[in-house]
Amino acid sequence: MSRKVIIAGNWKMNKTAAEGCELVNALKEKLGCSCYDNVDIVVCPPFTTLGAVVEAAKGSRIKVGAQNVHWAESGAFTGEISAEMLKTSGVEYVIIGHSERRQYFGETDATVNSRLKAALNAGLKPIVCIGELLEEREGGLTEKVLTTQIRGGFDGITGEQMANIVVAYEPVWAIGTGKTATPDIAQETHAHIRKELEAMFGAEVAGKVRIQYGGSMKADNARELVAQADIDGGLIGGAALKADSFAALIDEAMGK
Ligand code: 13P
Repeated sequence: MSRKVIIAGNWKMNKTAAEGCELVNALKEKLGCSCYDNVDIVVCPPFTTLGAVVEAAKGSRIKVGAQNVHWAESGAFTGEISAEMLKTSGVEYVIIGHSERRQYFGETDATVNSRLKAALNAGLKPIVCIGELLEEREGGLTEKVLTTQIRGGFDGITGEQMANIVVAYEPVWAIGTGKTATPDIAQETHAHIRKELEAMFGAEVAGKVRIQYGGSMKADNARELVAQADIDGGLIGGAALKADSFAALIDEAMGK
């Protein structure tokens, strides 16, 4: 089963519109070659920077994603953004259920599931994040936690929809800490995720789902991680904030 590698940069709460355009313009120069046809490259700026980055990325291979989406179509939800608003702004992908949203903003598997359905209905491509805390890993609970997140997050999703969803496995203890899961640990966990998807959606669908690794991924470790059988790319924080480090990471992930 061959799955197209997908590398996405999650800019988190970084970059003004001007800074975002500067980064995208630099990436366009570095990633212009048709040798990058075999990888999906996505950048996910904050909401206020999205419009400018969509414009800057036009006509290039760089795709644009948002970092969150509300589940309602419209209404009295001060401060929220709907899937339709994103779609009509030229946004293609959306990150849902990032651990920072789960930790600091009350995100649950149920809200992840609602956001996911809204994103799919609007034709957005979701990147759904799952991952365990350090104490859960140390307590031997990793697989149980991931299984719960998968069953809750993907409840009511069809196999056809699932095949086009990207899953990002981000062990919370590896995010922004410089501690990466070893390729062996990451592969073992990705294999568990795929096995759970197989139990819910069957082998054919599970074989199509792209599972990214996220957590202190950089040029130094990208090659070995993405070389693992069940690791299909990365969701990158810190190393995605500079054109040099992001492009170098993409090269390594592709084995260049
Ligand atoms: P870092 O790459 O900075 O560890 O962040 C990972 C992440 O949270 C991407 O969504």
